Amino acid sequence: MKENIIPHTYQITIQDRRKANLQNSFLLWFTGLSGSGKSTIANVVEQELYKKGIKTYILDGDNIRNGINKDLSFSPEDRTENIRRIAETANLMIDAGLVVLAAFVSPYKKDRENIKSIVKDVNFVEIYVNTSIEECEKRDVKGLYKKARAGEIKNMTGISAPYEAPENPDVEIKTENVSIEKAVEQIIEYITPKLKLKNE
Ligand code: ADX
Repeated sequence: MKENIIPHTYQITIQDRRKANLQNSFLLWFTGLSGSGKSTIANVVEQELYKKGIKTYILDGDNIRNGINKDLSFSPEDRTENIRRIAETANLMIDAGLVVLAAFVSPYKKDRENIKSIVKDVNFVEIYVNTSIEECEKRDVKGLYKKARAGEIKNMTGISAPYEAPENPDVEIKTENVSIEKAVEQIIEYITPKLKLKNE
């Protein structure tokens, strides 16, 4: 905390907002290579939650890297700052009483550890969308791997920049073996107990 910055104590707390929303609030963090299926899966999970009346919000590369983080590149330092700002944004949304779904490559373990310390361990669910680089490159939905192989994109995760896979994710989805429906089921099953308010 910076010297001379003294936060005001507001009367309405996170617990009040969770109670008003009739739900718990926390962060679902999807990590994996570009093209692994993070956004696709997050999108369907959000639809399932919506059907249950759960209030949610999705943060992903398009709405963040075109807006609040448009000043950031893919250098290791900028990726760290990218993830830090997203984690702080998610933290505000958790405070507002929402279930936040965030889909970012987030290739560095230390950055993902930092998210946990920002939002608190108990509010953090790590979902590893595990699709091999070979498969992502084969799919190449955005044509980025081709460009990376041609040297037109530097620091491409999986090609010319590292991806540090989670060792102990809360949920691991091997997209080459399971359907999207099954993946979503797996995630919903894991988070269902967490959705309930503690004193219910
Ligand atoms: S992160 O590494 O900082 O977490 P983030 O999830 O925000 O990355 O953005 C990744 C998306 O940006 C990819 O899905 C891809 O569409 C695009 N992208 C552009 N350049 C790169 C790159 N060098 N490495 C990875 N993704 C890139």
